[in-house]
Amino acid sequence: MRINIDTEVVIPINRLIGHKRGELGPYCFEAWRYALDGRENPEFVLNQPHYREAKFLLAGDNFGCGSSREHAVWSLADFGIRCIIAPSFGDIFYWNCFQNGMLPIRLPDDQVKELAAEIEAAEQPLVTVDLETQAITMPSGRQVTFTTDPERRAALLEGLDEIGMTLKLDAQIRGHQSRDRESRPWIYRREETARVARLLILAGDGIGPEILAEVRKVAEWFIAKRQLSVELREELFGISAWKTHGDLMRQQTWDEIVAADAILFGATGSPEYEKIPAAARKVDQLLRMRKELDLFCNLRPVRTLPALGASSSLRPEVIADCDMMIVRELCGGIYFGKPRGREKLNTGGERAVNTCMYTTGEIERIARAAFDLARVRSGRVCSVDKSNVLTETGGLWRDTVQALQDRHYPDIELSHMYVDNCTMQLVRAPKQFDVLVTENLFGDILSDCAAMVAGSLGMLPSASLGPVRPDGGRHALYEPIHGSAPDIAGRGIANPLGAIMSFALCLRFSLGLAQEADRLERAVDAAISHGARTADIVQPGEKSISTKAMGDAVLAELEQMQ
Ligand code: IPM
Ligand code: MG
Repeated sequence: MRINIDTEVVIPINRLIGHKRGELGPYCFEAWRYALDGRENPEFVLNQPHYREAKFLLAGDNFGCGSSREHAVWSLADFGIRCIIAPSFGDIFYWNCFQNGMLPIRLPDDQVKELAAEIEAAEQPLVTVDLETQAITMPSGRQVTFTTDPERRAALLEGLDEIGMTLKLDAQIRGHQSRDRESRPWIYRREETARVARLLILAGDGIGPEILAEVRKVAEWFIAKRQLSVELREELFGISAWKTHGDLMRQQTWDEIVAADAILFGATGSPEYEKIPAAARKVDQLLRMRKELDLFCNLRPVRTLPALGASSSLRPEVIADCDMMIVRELCGGIYFGKPRGREKLNTGGERAVNTCMYTTGEIERIARAAFDLARVRSGRVCSVDKSNVLTETGGLWRDTVQALQDRHYPDIELSHMYVDNCTMQLVRAPKQFDVLVTENLFGDILSDCAAMVAGSLGMLPSASLGPVRPDGGRHALYEPIHGSAPDIAGRGIANPLGAIMSFALCLRFSLGLAQEADRLERAVDAAISHGARTADIVQPGEKSISTKAMGDAVLAELEQMQ
């Protein structure tokens, strides 16, 4: 009848480890039941002949207070207790009882004391608790009624926990959902409506077609084996488009781009552009897609793959266990600022101008993306600028990111770094970074630099995301960050993993299939740790495999994991 019986007294913390549910009975009330020499303590109530096989416990106020360990209920149950009667309970202990088949009964203090006195005085302390009628029958035959939450009571009577109770309502829940879906379809996420997503492959120049052929194989595997609901479409992009259509971007291709749920992009860039009339190639079509689809949020994850440590120029201990996310602003800054141009000077020579320009809104939306990502990662953001010299754009960048953090992300740890220092820190101590947010040009440079942390530029994926539209969708383009590598194009030796991992990002960000994305990333890791190496990541003495064989190696791992 003591008050404040703590869960630590019910089951001591040192017994939680090494003993499973079902094995905890011997340790229930251990400190009270046994003397130090291990013999039973005859003073303790549950050791007395009168109460030895007790199935009910009468206790004082606040039974089961203290740590929330579920083991407290388990050990009591293992010991043989089925029901506890007390004026009040530790809150979590009380609900743990119902979840674990134990009946806790709350009765006023004086009633509990009366019951205790009556039981103590009885010759045969035989008590019955009937949960159906909610009545306690005392040795004298006297009945005491109690009440229990009706749903908890039903669950206990049927031996079900909360999940079990919910599952009983499965048919009703499904019925409700389908009626609800019909009456207001717009509140449901798009992927739930079994819509077929449109993925557009733009393989582009150089090694693009070779590596995107492997991405297609992987995507087709997910369609066949994982019921991925997508339609793969393909359009020519770059030099091949020029050669076939006499146009770098025919209207049909642009319409496909705008209509796609996601674009799987290969690469752009080739010496052959020189042969195209200057007017026709004036607009870079990749930059046009970024700008017109408003793909402002460029995510470039960089993580070390243990098996690839040797292919980096950095020492293994410097790059071990790195996992960072470069968040690059992709629609502003000097890439798109006006005025820009070259003009002849009367005095001879030329004058060339590019303009770096940012607005508060542009900075805020990319900083938000970085802070939101940090919330599901380590909670740290490093913002990179050059505000000591570019006091205008750099200053606005720093002020805006800081103000946003002050106002809306107090839980995030924000630091600021100058871009020159950041470049050095990336190769000196890359582990210090988690989420790195920066403007367009700095992001371009820093991400190539950070590639050495992963071992090879060929390994790095990227996602470029637009703002979320009212219908829940957003434009998105996924591309490896390496370029078109014209020097090795057509030889079948390029590394397709950056592109394949970009498809993993597509699964995650455009198709909402995080588990499938994880599956693909695991398959890539496995292929590498089983020794698959393209020429860019091969070590002296190792055998390198072709682009196609690398795609096959990933497929084989996917099959294996099924
Ligand atoms: C990148 C590339 C592009 C860029 C080129 C191909 C326009 O280097 O995505 O990093 O400068 O943004
Ligand atoms: Mg670049």
